Amino acid sequence: MKRRSGRAFSDKPVSDEMINSILEAGRWAPSCSNTQAWNFIVLKDTQLLSKAHEALSRGNAYAKAAPVMIIVAAKEDGGCSSHGLPYFMMDVGLTVENMLLQTVHLGLLGHPTVGWNEEMLKEVTGIPIAYRIVTVVFIGYEGDPEMLDERSREKEKAPRIRKDLSEIVHWNGW
Ligand SMILES: Cc1cc2nc3c(=O)[nH]c(=O)nc-3n(C[C@H](O)[C@H](O)[C@H](O)COP(=O)(O)O)c2cc1C
Repeated sequence: MKRRSGRAFSDKPVSDEMINSILEAGRWAPSCSNTQAWNFIVLKDTQLLSKAHEALSRGNAYAKAAPVMIIVAAKEDGGCSSHGLPYFMMDVGLTVENMLLQTVHLGLLGHPTVGWNEEMLKEVTGIPIAYRIVTVVFIGYEGDPEMLDERSREKEKAPRIRKDLSEIVHWNGW
């Protein structure tokens, strides 16, 4: 319940020790047959971050304030091939949630995103063609929501909602 995708980042630097503990939490996620298909590309150099910011969608401009970007990349055939399902995506989801929960533990905000241009991010970071960028997680200390643009501020203030359990749970069969 404490984890949330906050948008108001402060530019206060995050220590390497904290970043490492977040990566460590990601590393210990479960994965199908322990394939661990994930790769974490950590950006904290300000010049590199500025270049990477050019790849962000307009709606994700709030994330430019975050001092750390973790790009999670994986090969599409890197996980299990059971049931014809792309299990590398589940594995990446699990590692990302582990990292997000660790950000909460450390008193930081972590926000997963898909709003960016993959080719541009690959060019900035040198991620090989064979890998797909699944998500970019922005990490930082929480800042002042009043610094956000109007739309982001509205989203930030909106209540977090979920489907009711009765809509999604099927006890003893569908
Ligand atoms: C795969 C994925 C992609 C997302 N992409 C974006 C994004 O591009 N921009 C954004 O602001 N939030 C993004 N989010 C955050 C979701 O909007 C957010 O998790 C959802 O609204 C629920 O809010 P909560 O995380 O605060 O509980 C993404 C979340 C996930 C899991």
